[in-house]
Amino acid sequence: MTDGDRPPALLKVLMVGEVYGKLGRKVISVLLPQLRQQKQLDLVIANGESAAGGFGLTSSTAEELLRNGVDVITSGNRLFDQREMVDWLKNNPDAPILRPLNYPPGTPGRASLIVETDKGPVEVLNLNGRVYFNEMDSPFRVVDNWLEGRTNTMPRLVDFHAEATSEKVVLGWYLDGRVSAVLGTHTRTPTGDARLLKHGTAHVSDVGMVGSYNTVIGMEVEVALKPFTSHTFVRPKQNRRADGPLVFNSVLVEIDPENGRAVTISRLDLMLEDESM
Ligand SMILES: [Fe+2]
Repeated sequence: MTDGDRPPALLKVLMVGEVYGKLGRKVISVLLPQLRQQKQLDLVIANGESAAGGFGLTSSTAEELLRNGVDVITSGNRLFDQREMVDWLKNNPDAPILRPLNYPPGTPGRASLIVETDKGPVEVLNLNGRVYFNEMDSPFRVVDNWLEGRTNTMPRLVDFHAEATSEKVVLGWYLDGRVSAVLGTHTRTPTGDARLLKHGTAHVSDVGMVGSYNTVIGMEVEVALKPFTSHTFVRPKQNRRADGPLVFNSVLVEIDPENGRAVTISRLDLMLEDESM
């Protein structure tokens, strides 16, 4: 077989679930650098909207993730929980940090970027769902505008940050054949529905999270219980102590770089014992 007959090497993209707080960042620093090597990853995307103590992102937490093997940080409805990000994004327009495209006009930050990889350029887009997020524009309408004038052969991945599984599944089908992958985040609960849609778009409803396992999606169980048992509001509190295993949820997507179609999608979920931290 000559080189010319050989199918192109597939582009390997790892989408990491929402990194939650300090423990989530530690898991990234322990696992991701070696995972990049082992899996020969071309691109790593991670959702970082809860990386700063479970509430938004700061410049230092973003830099920590970028230092430890993340190429692009996506976000969602809580990116601006830490107010410093408003000015920081204005002052650092080239940072590889995305906010959803359908935030109101005038919101700081950018929603997409093109990364040059060894297998060619790849574009990453961040979108937010509208169910329970009335302040956002329709993701369906804004993504149509965004795609206008773009070829559908460049690999493109969308982090669709949304609450409702229905909206996430429907957006996957809406973009089937128009982007390489639609990967859900926000619920921090990994779903078992990773699959290829009919026209070559990889989809999963939720990638999951990175952080402390014996929690309610990163929060202390006792605190998370209170609103349900006492009907009083309690400010959510992140679990700071690793009193059990730590979880790393992600999906690996392989894409044909020549036509942008996804070839495989599989879950890559790992656990770390707390002693290793
Ligand atoms: Fe969110």
